[in-house]
Amino acid sequence: MDAKDWDERYAATELVWSAEPNRFVAELVSPLTPGTAIDIAAGEGRNAIWLAQQGWTVTATDYSAVGVERMRARAEAVLGADAGRLTALVADATVAAPGGPAAYDLVLFSYLQLPRAEWRLALRNGVEAVRPGGHVLIVVHAARNLTEGWGGPSSREVLYDPDEVVDAVEGLPVAVEHAGIRVRPVETEDGPREALDTVVMLRRV
Ligand SMILES: C[S@@+](CC[C@H](N)C(=O)[O-])C[C@H]1O[C@@H](n2cnc3c(N)ncnc32)[C@H](O)[C@@H]1O
Repeated sequence: MDAKDWDERYAATELVWSAEPNRFVAELVSPLTPGTAIDIAAGEGRNAIWLAQQGWTVTATDYSAVGVERMRARAEAVLGADAGRLTALVADATVAAPGGPAAYDLVLFSYLQLPRAEWRLALRNGVEAVRPGGHVLIVVHAARNLTEGWGGPSSREVLYDPDEVVDAVEGLPVAVEHAGIRVRPVETEDGPREALDTVVMLRRV
């Protein structure tokens, strides 16, 4: 899918993703002291808005202008007087993040499913954007989800098991704090199902 496809997908539905943050984002970010964060490929902003509610000053980017416009509108509606804590921008994850190098305490990638070469570029940009000591949190549909889990993309090329994320950041200035598969319960029309996500927390060194 390209930016135009995502624009069409967002324009066709009131809310494509849930209003609540991803459960693993909430779990791994909650213990951190709020500071500055960038949510890369933030979509409609469920995680970015939650981060702002937790006291983070958030920049949220996506290459879908329709997604970014929706995120802005939702941030104003949900955050009210705190809406200024979230800056939503149209930007491609494969180019350097807005704000410049080492600008953020936290970089978040939540379900950015890109083919290998673009994925590595996006990760490199994300690591460059975080200050030494800061964190990069990556949540993606796992490759194992194809055969053992529910939903998610059907193209193996954009799916990553934990070892593949660790391989992709080899040579970058990060330490791996956590890398594993996590089960995400999903309510479907056919009853409860389980999706398999890869969750990786990196610390910039
Ligand atoms: C599955 S959605 C996830 C949205 C959000 N992170 C969340 O967890 O709700 C993937 C998002 O990635 C965005 N995206 C895909 N490729 C991108 C790229 N190269 N640069 C920026 N955004 C991209 C899409 O527009 C879409 O909003």
